[in-house]
Amino acid sequence: MSKQPNIQIHPASGRLGVLIPGMGAVTSTFIAGVEAVKQGLGEPIGSLTQLATIRLGKRTERRTPKIKDFVPLTPLECLSFGTWDIYEDNAYEAASRARVLDTALLESVKEPLAAIRPMKAVFDQEYVRRIHGPNVKSTGNKMQAAEELMADIQEFKARNGCSRLVMIWCGSTEVFHKPAAVHQNLAAFEEGLRKNDPDIAPSQIYAYAALKLRVPFANGAPNLTTDTPALLELARNNEVPICGKDFKTGQTFMKTLLAPGFKSRMLGVRGWFSTNILGNRDGEVLDDPGSFKTKEETKLSVLEQILQPDLYPELYKELYHAVRINYYPPRGDAKEGWDNIDIFGWLGYPMQIKIDFLCRDSILAAPLVLDLVLFLDLAQRAGMKGVQEWLSFYFKGPMTAPGLYPEHDIFIQLMKLKNTLRWMQGEDLITHLGLEYYD
Ligand SMILES: NC(=O)c1ccc[n+]([C@@H]2O[C@H](COP(=O)([O-])OP(=O)(O)OC[C@H]3O[C@@H](n4cnc5c(N)ncnc54)[C@H](O)[C@@H]3O)[C@@H](O)[C@H]2O)c1
Repeated sequence: MSKQPNIQIHPASGRLGVLIPGMGAVTSTFIAGVEAVKQGLGEPIGSLTQLATIRLGKRTERRTPKIKDFVPLTPLECLSFGTWDIYEDNAYEAASRARVLDTALLESVKEPLAAIRPMKAVFDQEYVRRIHGPNVKSTGNKMQAAEELMADIQEFKARNGCSRLVMIWCGSTEVFHKPAAVHQNLAAFEEGLRKNDPDIAPSQIYAYAALKLRVPFANGAPNLTTDTPALLELARNNEVPICGKDFKTGQTFMKTLLAPGFKSRMLGVRGWFSTNILGNRDGEVLDDPGSFKTKEETKLSVLEQILQPDLYPELYKELYHAVRINYYPPRGDAKEGWDNIDIFGWLGYPMQIKIDFLCRDSILAAPLVLDLVLFLDLAQRAGMKGVQEWLSFYFKGPMTAPGLYPEHDIFIQLMKLKNTLRWMQGEDLITHLGLEYYD
């Protein structure tokens, strides 16, 4: 029985251009992965849009289509990729340098990858200090830089025959900045662009360019970027969906699996010490205290929000939470993250949990990029605008409406995501009440 959709969704016809500032480990692994999947060389493991099903109606109805058969998503064959980076490496060279994927696999996708050359970046050494590259625009002021990016976007769209675009920031983590006066409204921001205000980060110039052209924008790093009143205003005015910040992949992914479990059983947590070693370029950038501070903010906020110490002072008020990241080149992209968790149970008796997660950062991040790109495009075709809270599932620091605290519990986030898809298509929302089965 097909239902009446709640909103009209335009079909995913034509090509979707995926625009990515930053062509490092995550971007090259994502693009190489899409090409490999298209050639049948691998499975898109980790991607909800490609693999997950969605239950519809009552459990007795046994309706569980794949998400990609339930909502109209762009097929992988219809994606085109455009990137910017301060290095001139094409996607094949960037992937080889990142050493995430096997040489044999990369050779099989060399042709499409080698054709993807990064456009000149808008870059500011004040925001990313540890890296230096030649492929940078030399523009007058920040407004002119934004205009050059808009020209890049339009040229890319025409050259690739795209009918729609999305942009996702996979560039380095920028140095920590609090929102300043220039971010308080769009007029101040535009004036700041013209006056080269030092508080406007490169990622914000990309975001501005995208939103001006009504291109949906996602932020995979913890930088402020669109999480400011000025760019929210632009997204709302131009009716563009946005989401961020900071892909939830390794250690924080683990945290958002475990912490809701402890809280659901009313177990206390006294300490959570997390440390990582990471040897890729991201690790090198995060070795700079300014960039690490940006990362630390999103990593630390998660536990506080999930455990709600104000509501449960006897369980979580004393929690000591620390996060460290150390740059350790021998491991490359294969990160190792350790967690020591001091919990306590009945009558306050202490217990410990140790986690040693030998993960692969970009292998975990690539499917998130794919899902975000496809879902943001879906959101735009469905006329959804501004912050897309239903995509919180993918982020360590989910953006929300001003004044609303973010939901970090990954299981609630998943329910929110799937219920949004059900709502779009006019299906009943699933509350898991289930009393009707026992009437
Ligand atoms: N891999 C993960 O699991 C994960 C999880 C959460 C967040 N992230 C974030 O995703 C981002 C990408 O990660 P990565 O491992 O690919 O890093 P990376 O260092 O390999 O790639 C980042 C690229 O961005 C480029 N860059 C920096 N500033 C730029 C600018 N202004 N314009 C264009 N290019 C620019 C750099 O030259 C570099 O090639 C980082 O910010 C990282 O913190 C990654």
